[in-house]
Amino acid sequence: MPSITVVGSVNRDLVLTVAELPRPGETVLAHGFVEGPGGKGANQAVAAARLGAEVRLVARVGADAGAILRTLAAEGVAVTEVRTDAQAGTGIASVVVDRAGENTIVVNPGANAALSVDDLPRQLARTQGEVVLVQHEIAAEVVAAAVLRAREQGGTVVLNPAPARSVAPEVLAAVDVLVPNLGELAALLDAPRPSGVAGARELLERGAELPCAAVLVTLGADGALLKQPGRPAVHLPAPVVEVVDTVGAGDTFCGALADSLARGADLAAAAERAVRAAALAVTGLGAQSSMPYAGQLDAGAAH
Ligand code: RIB
Repeated sequence: MPSITVVGSVNRDLVLTVAELPRPGETVLAHGFVEGPGGKGANQAVAAARLGAEVRLVARVGADAGAILRTLAAEGVAVTEVRTDAQAGTGIASVVVDRAGENTIVVNPGANAALSVDDLPRQLARTQGEVVLVQHEIAAEVVAAAVLRAREQGGTVVLNPAPARSVAPEVLAAVDVLVPNLGELAALLDAPRPSGVAGARELLERGAELPCAAVLVTLGADGALLKQPGRPAVHLPAPVVEVVDTVGAGDTFCGALADSLARGADLAAAAERAVRAAALAVTGLGAQSSMPYAGQLDAGAAH
């Protein structure tokens, strides 16, 4: 069974649905509210587990996370490396989704901010090629330690640099696949946010400035763009779907990518499957509830 370790955040998502996202200074009334499990780490772990991978999550939660941990375990995510912090509450994400499925998210990190280097298992990559998946909702020093340790142990390191912040070159150099969206790519390159496929392609041609092995930019409805060293960037278009909620689409992408890589797929094939997984995830409300299972994702597909 493909095995994956996710190092990242766990949040309670408070999701409000509105007609239009509020502008600065504006109050709008929501027409719906749901609370559900979220956090980029937990979401990516669930996305991979739903596709059949053996997934463990390394994270910190507050004492209030009992229901979330039970949900994660029921999804097949091993939570033995999730510490319960007596001093901090579980992270909370205030998520607002408009009628076009676009969203804004504000996160109070809570216990996620207390995840420390000491919380990382000594053996992060338990086998050669085990995929270790990391995001930016935890401290930068923990991200750096996880990436470097996983690399040293022969893991396949996937970094989703969300939310955007800079990454030290020696950390980027230890990453096998970097998965930013357009804003995160711009932040990493200290460049203006590119627009669309053409803009991302142009920025990626400056790939020498990103020392990681491969860059896979998520482009929402436009799919993704894959840039591998010495090769032209390849556009992977997304299927057209009816968008309900884009929250968790990037996480579904990363979880599906990790699942395919852990199964030994090549990066282009893994990326193509991740694009299809993310497209399915935007057709339902909520970060985790809309993530596809293997049967849905692979029905009629070659892998
Ligand atoms: O990527 C989506 C996630 O971002 C939400 O589940 C929310 O918790 C925030 O972490």
